[in-house]
Amino acid sequence: MTTNPIKITDTTFRDAHQSLMATRLRTEDMEPIAAQMDEAGFHSAEVWGGATFDAATRFLAEDPWERLRTFKGLMPKTPLQMLLRGQSLVGYRTYADDVVESFVDRSADNGIDIFRVFDALNYEPNLEIAASAVKKSGKHLQMAICYTVTEEGRLGGSIYNLDYYVNKARNFLEFGADSICLKDMGGLMAPYDAVELVTALKEFLPVPLQLHLHYTSGMASMTALKAIEAGVDVVDTALAPLALRTSQPAIEPLLVTLQNTDRDTGLDLNKMLEMGDYLESMLPKYRAELETPRAAVIDAKVLSHQIPGGMASNLVSQLREADALDKINDVLEEIPRTRAELGFPPLVTPMSQMVGSQSVSNVLFGRYTMISEPVKEYFRGNFGTPPSAVDEDLKAKVIEQDGGVEREAPVRPGAALDPEMDAAREAISDISTDIDDTLIYALYPQTGLRFLNIKHGLEPIPDDMKPRTAEQQASPSASQAAPADMSPNARRFNVYVQGQRFEVDVDPSDAGTVVTSASGAPAPSTSPSPSVAPASAGASRDGSDAILVAPMPGMLVSIAVKVGQTVSAGETLVVLEAMKMQNSLPAPIAGTVKELPVAAGTQVAKDEALAIIAP
Ligand code: CO
Repeated sequence: MTTNPIKITDTTFRDAHQSLMATRLRTEDMEPIAAQMDEAGFHSAEVWGGATFDAATRFLAEDPWERLRTFKGLMPKTPLQMLLRGQSLVGYRTYADDVVESFVDRSADNGIDIFRVFDALNYEPNLEIAASAVKKSGKHLQMAICYTVTEEGRLGGSIYNLDYYVNKARNFLEFGADSICLKDMGGLMAPYDAVELVTALKEFLPVPLQLHLHYTSGMASMTALKAIEAGVDVVDTALAPLALRTSQPAIEPLLVTLQNTDRDTGLDLNKMLEMGDYLESMLPKYRAELETPRAAVIDAKVLSHQIPGGMASNLVSQLREADALDKINDVLEEIPRTRAELGFPPLVTPMSQMVGSQSVSNVLFGRYTMISEPVKEYFRGNFGTPPSAVDEDLKAKVIEQDGGVEREAPVRPGAALDPEMDAAREAISDISTDIDDTLIYALYPQTGLRFLNIKHGLEPIPDDMKPRTAEQQASPSASQAAPADMSPNARRFNVYVQGQRFEVDVDPSDAGTVVTSASGAPAPSTSPSPSVAPASAGASRDGSDAILVAPMPGMLVSIAVKVGQTVSAGETLVVLEAMKMQNSLPAPIAGTVKELPVAAGTQVAKDEALAIIAP
């Protein structure tokens, strides 16, 4: 009866937890069901790539290569799949060709069988090197087309219409694709649009067609079913405990829906339920990561704001860290506006982070008061050609900041970069000569270096990178609580006195304030008066000094000035990496750099003082 079984890729170990819990699932918590997963009969298991590489090194003190080898050992039968961002690999910028070639080669060697390769702008030149490296490795090359829509919210219109996807599929085939994937990051593909797309693509594609959906808007189960009826070859699903919401459709109902049809999955429901039981028993320790402020399981608004799953959970955790979760609706409204100004890029990594954090910055500090470095690079054409025209005034603003000279953008952005692997080898030669370690550094020079120091025992594992138990999750440390007699305006600061760090709670005693935020605008009245802060810290800070504080938590990447140096207002003092973007923070006033309390490479909290300027 089953003439054409639908094949299933399980995403539980990668996209599912990337979407629902900011990619925080640890290897040790996946290992217990990896062997069962291997026996389940999936077409493939997506276990790596995307944000897992970054999250493992940045937040979990876990070696991502080791994770891959662990899965390979426990899952020898099931092809292991990864998501690769073309020339951006598993990072957020364009890397040099030698990094791309080496990364693909090492990924294949460590256990990846199927590479799903995409570019955020569906820009072919950005796929060339990664695609040819996969072909060279002898592994399966899946070329993925990012699916998105414009304001219409449906397939069609002047940019993202049927012709667009048919043309992209034809172009992507030419890379030697072993399969083609339609990748709907935002849950935007409507069921009947899927029928139209699948029918048109299956008409000419000589290779299998796979569909990757996110449930976000509530359409994905219907879309998967209609696509299966229309003849799609493979669909992505996740086990129920990590399915739905912003993740993939659940396998269990789909499996039963298709039983005894010509597209029966052939999978065993009881095996799925057993693995689901394990996840249910393990996941309570991740309650903080899984928590959302929303009541609804679906987000119907996604049909207008088009925010992909991983991006939505990141926005929530970033705004929570920045103490601004109440601004979430403003940010969601800002995103379509920012996206239009950027020429309607598909909202997928790195574009989703770029549009997302630029929108957060626009809401918190004023529209384009700070333009992140990647967004500037985008306007310079260094991510490739945008799908549609960008805002001319913004482009002019970036050119003006570049000194009035418009730089010529290369056709293939990667071709403009000098090789990077030798410098990376050199940079970590005191720590390691291992090629996989070198790639970690080449991908993320700041957070990667910190990870390598931890991995090789040169730095202790910070407490916030250690695994937690369900009990610890239930009773958060009481030490963070402020004394009962402090006002809600109180803020905690790290204050450095002669190299020693002190945590100081500051409660403002009057409204007068000269503390300025990074935007150069007066800080909100909740900021402490410096006449209070220095007094309680025992340091001698003149009341008229301006303090540049971190507008959001992040890592201080570099310091552009020295103590004693004269600076003008607006001049870059430091570069803060926050929300995975590098942001230049300008001097709030003209004056002399009096203190630089934080060293480069340090993780800083929101409102932590980064520079003190005496007028
Ligand atoms: Co996805």
